[in-house]
Amino acid sequence: MQQKLSVTALQAGYGDVRVLWDISLDVGPAELVCIVGSNGAGKTTLMRCLSGLLKVSAGSIVVDGKPMQGASPADFVRAGIAHVPEGRRLFSAMSVRDNLLMGAYLRTDKAAIAADLERVYAMFPILATRRNQDAGTMSGGEQQMCAIGRGLMAAPSLLLVDELSLGLAPRAVELLTESLRAVNKSGVAVLLVEQDVMNALELADRAYVVDHGRVVKSGPAMSLVNDPAIREAYMGLS
Ligand SMILES: Nc1ncnc2c1ncn2[C@@H]1O[C@H](COP(=O)(O)OP(=O)(O)OP(=O)(O)O)[C@@H](O)[C@H]1O
Ligand SMILES: [Mg+2]
Repeated sequence: MQQKLSVTALQAGYGDVRVLWDISLDVGPAELVCIVGSNGAGKTTLMRCLSGLLKVSAGSIVVDGKPMQGASPADFVRAGIAHVPEGRRLFSAMSVRDNLLMGAYLRTDKAAIAADLERVYAMFPILATRRNQDAGTMSGGEQQMCAIGRGLMAAPSLLLVDELSLGLAPRAVELLTESLRAVNKSGVAVLLVEQDVMNALELADRAYVVDHGRVVKSGPAMSLVNDPAIREAYMGLS
């Protein structure tokens, strides 16, 4: 079966500083895969490579069988990849609605865009109520809904989410987790980076553990939940 995303021996960094040493991973169509790792492990750097924001120095990224070498961020969006960045990065002085529509900037299918906007509003009713409010004045949880909604407005087949739950109250995390599960159930593959390792492993089909820019462990999420080394290093459990 062809993978949605296939990364092989990827290396990347900033200037002379190498951050990712040898990353290989796959995401199948409609699979939900998570990446866990300590602060500074290189998770965000990897997500930036996977959306064309950062050029890789070696290795390959293949989407639906097509190599993405030299591809621009817009090319990655056209290939079906939408990126919900760490820290959300909304346009704070723009309305919720306009932020959502930014996600559809490469699309021209007006009717389908309108239908997708309604779908996002149905998934997160608070965004519909607050559609004319400046995004910067929304709560953290609401802003994360808006960021995910903006990603969905690109009509992706793979959604990259960098830190779903960081800094949010349990109720908001629960709601966002459920919505991500629903997105995935509708056939969209998801690659999730998450600080809350237990939450991530409960949600995901498979997981990769990244440490100092390398994949140090991978497998079915459930097997990692029960891995003593993972429990000790990332969940503070023994
Ligand atoms: N723009 C940049 N310029 C130089 N170094 C950077 C830049 N962005 C990140 N780094 C460095 O790359 C390394 C990996 O950072 P990255 O943000 O990818 O980690 P992370 O796994 O996402 O961490 P966190 O869990 O804290 O979000 C860190 O050492 C960081 O200082
Ligand atoms: Mg990060």
